[in-house]
Amino acid sequence: MTGGAGFLGSHLCDRLLQDGHDVLCVDNFFTGTRDNILHLLENPHFELMRHDVTFPLYVEVDEIFNLACPASPVHYQFDPIQTVKTGVHGAINVLGLAKRVRARVLQASTSEVYGDAQTHPQTEDYWGNVNPIGTRSCYDEGKRCAETLFFDYHRQHKLEIKVARIFNTYGPRMHPNDGRVVSTFIVQALLGKPITLFGRGEQTRSFCYVDDLIDGLVRFMASDKDFVGPVNIGNPLELSVRELAERIIDLSGSRSRLTFRTLPSDDPKQRQPDIELARQRLGWSPRWQLDDGLSRTIDYFDSMLKNGDLFEQKPALAVL
Ligand SMILES: NC(=O)c1ccc[n+]([C@@H]2O[C@H](COP(=O)([O-])OP(=O)(O)OC[C@H]3O[C@@H](n4cnc5c(N)ncnc54)[C@H](O)[C@@H]3O)[C@@H](O)[C@H]2O)c1
Repeated sequence: MTGGAGFLGSHLCDRLLQDGHDVLCVDNFFTGTRDNILHLLENPHFELMRHDVTFPLYVEVDEIFNLACPASPVHYQFDPIQTVKTGVHGAINVLGLAKRVRARVLQASTSEVYGDAQTHPQTEDYWGNVNPIGTRSCYDEGKRCAETLFFDYHRQHKLEIKVARIFNTYGPRMHPNDGRVVSTFIVQALLGKPITLFGRGEQTRSFCYVDDLIDGLVRFMASDKDFVGPVNIGNPLELSVRELAERIIDLSGSRSRLTFRTLPSDDPKQRQPDIELARQRLGWSPRWQLDDGLSRTIDYFDSMLKNGDLFEQKPALAVL
């Protein structure tokens, strides 16, 4: 797995080990941390390799989950060129490896390939409305080009590919300072600070709990070889960012108030997956209720706060 020390990757490592697999976790620790996988380091079926996927990788594996890529705007805009390289060169290197060892390979793509979508909810056949030259483009276009590469390797080299379009996911091990709404709001609520909303907080998002997402990825990897995707994996329950803030205040028993800031550029107004394809082909749909998932995530950040880890766990931005 590339990106195995990150938020989603570390949960996927846990799940694959539970399922009896041997896991090679490849990560350059740009946004991932050893803390996320500390509990796995003594496991004889787990191996950790520090490696940047923009360089070729020579290992022997049967399946590859390609998750390496910074995923939140504060992280992927820190070094946009490196983000494009991770998306594109990373895909080329991973696909080259898959071709050499004839491994099945899954790409963690994103709902951002739909950009500021003009159809709602988004189905997989929608081609997207993406600004190619904006500040989010390094991520969006990197992921779009990676999808192209996956499908070209599939057509040209008969590679077994799987392209998953992941929608907003949350849960324990998210970065406390990644600027994403769930983590930001929870940290602000726990610290009793004002909760910052962009615009009036009326833009909508849908949020998938991490366990559901991981289950979707595992089912997809094990699915029929002819089902290559792309397939949306996310939770269709849509709510406004303001409603989310209010749920978090309520569940954490916080006394924080809401404050409002200017909307950033290219911020999608609405985002909701159509998951009919995943239901039909993978028998998958999310099971976690929002309040249960949020409560687990609040508990995670609360224990970080109590251990004094909340301010220490900064992404290793200086490595680049
Ligand atoms: N979390 C979400 O809501 C979400 C939504 C859509 C797509 N995704 C995709 O899922 C994947 C995982 O996202 P996440 O939320 O766990 O983010 P994350 O930042 O926690 O994890 C990404 C991991 O990739 C590693 N990485 C980054 N660049 C690398 C490189 N060049 N070489 C090796 N490792 C590198 C980071 O150190 C980190 O461990 C990403 O590809 C992301 O685009 C996530």
